[in-house]
Amino acid sequence: MKFSHAIIEKNVILMAVLTLITVSIGGLVQIVPLFTVETTIERVEGMRPYSPLELAGRNIYIREGCYVCHSQQIRTFKDEVERYGHYSLAAESMFDHPFQWGSKRTGPDLARVGGKYSNDWHVAHLNNPRALVPESIMPSYAFLNRPLTFADAADHLKTLRAVGVPYSEDDIANAASDLKLQAGALPDADSADLLARYPKANLGDFDGKPEQVTEMDALVAYLQMLGTLVDFTKINPDDLKQ
Ligand code: HEC
Repeated sequence: MKFSHAIIEKNVILMAVLTLITVSIGGLVQIVPLFTVETTIERVEGMRPYSPLELAGRNIYIREGCYVCHSQQIRTFKDEVERYGHYSLAAESMFDHPFQWGSKRTGPDLARVGGKYSNDWHVAHLNNPRALVPESIMPSYAFLNRPLTFADAADHLKTLRAVGVPYSEDDIANAASDLKLQAGALPDADSADLLARYPKANLGDFDGKPEQVTEMDALVAYLQMLGTLVDFTKINPDDLKQ
């Protein structure tokens, strides 16, 4: 045994190959079970896919690189939970492709920013952050007042369905009208069906310009839903322990 070990130690290539094999086995043992265990992500009541308007807002969030300065992941530390609310659950990003956990907090975490401010606050803040927070270094996004392009709303849902997000045929067929309805551009339409498919969706004109659906409407609709789907008063902390 002593002798064979010396062979390995003196031969870099053999050592590298054997190290790789050992590490691969270790990796497989950790990763493979996750593909077979159904509860890798524990389902949590309240989670649903994004509505078409929220999704459009999310796409703008990604396009504008908001994730460069904002995380969407509350860690399990006391200081974070006290500042931002309940720590993030895996299930809360189960429909995210790509997830927006982020790795940098130049600004605060946004995982639970939904409902913290009014729509007007968000619009004023995005137009000119310094109007509300004088020391802010966040850029101005006033140009988001332009009309939102949403002819491809259904395609976005279909693409997400291809990677496992459970959008129904109904969701896809109604994507564009759901989007307009949520943004307050179809004032006479009935929202019951939309709310049945996307519970807790915020309805209304978000940016104070009811005559058109803007990128601002979509982004604010997205910000206002962040972290609002799961009702943590109904969650038993013991159920979350692995
Ligand atoms: C250069 C870094 C930077 C970028 C990029 C950035 N922000 Fe910010 N953001 C900040 C900072 C710093 C603050 C804290 C000061 C303030 O409220 O303006 C902030 C605050 C916020 C807040 C208020 C959060 C709270 O809890 O008070 C929201 C909402 C927000 N940003 C959204 C966005 C969105 C949406 C985008 C992309 C369109 C974005 N930010 C891009 C730096 C950034």
